[in-house]
Amino acid sequence: MKKFNELKNSEILMSPSILAADFANLEPEIKRATDSGADIIHVDVMDGHFVPNISIGVPVVKSLRPITEAPLDVHLMITDPLKYAEAFVKAGADIIVFHEECDSDCQETIDKIRSLGCAVGMSVKPKTPASVLKPYIDQLDMVLVMTVEPGFGGQSFMEDQLPKIREIREMIKATGRNTHIEVDGGIAPGTAQLVKDAGANVLVAGTAAFRAPEGMDVAITEMKK
Ligand code: DX5
Ligand code: ZN
Repeated sequence: MKKFNELKNSEILMSPSILAADFANLEPEIKRATDSGADIIHVDVMDGHFVPNISIGVPVVKSLRPITEAPLDVHLMITDPLKYAEAFVKAGADIIVFHEECDSDCQETIDKIRSLGCAVGMSVKPKTPASVLKPYIDQLDMVLVMTVEPGFGGQSFMEDQLPKIREIREMIKATGRNTHIEVDGGIAPGTAQLVKDAGANVLVAGTAAFRAPEGMDVAITEMKK
């Protein structure tokens, strides 16, 4: 299993979201994901304030750390990521992705996560334009483009986000940095092709991975190719 900083943005990588896993069996569920070809594990943290839902937090990340070698991609859908970033890094996150729309100062949050030796990413909700990322783009390891309104799994993919993915791919090219583009929300074999064509390389899938009727290995192989 590769470490996060060994992954290249020219590779198509799968980051299954454990939001759709069986929470009573997270260890076997994560093993099922990595055995099926997952490169990264996506952990959705929701505070009931930034988004209208509450999911999991620091203790779960800490419990997952010893049971998998997969990089943990922690998606903070929380109002104040600056306040909680350190706890998530100490718990074992390999990359922290926070939202541009949060209340923390974005530059301070990037600096804080970096100072802790962790990779850092920023996410934009569907209505947020790519241009807000300009001051930060040359400092990021990943940009997460939400292809649904954050808060819940199982929603429909928003095709109108494809131009934004293309725009961010151009911004990244101009920096020359190995910055990944991650997409999250409604990703399944059909929509995977659209986002890959637009320039995304890290595909988050909850429902389409953990609840694939044909099996997670078949679904992941399909989404990667
Ligand atoms: C939504 C979360 C997603 C979610 C994706 O706010 O950020 O990671 O788990 O679920 P699917 O793949 O089912 O749309
Ligand atoms: Zn997510």
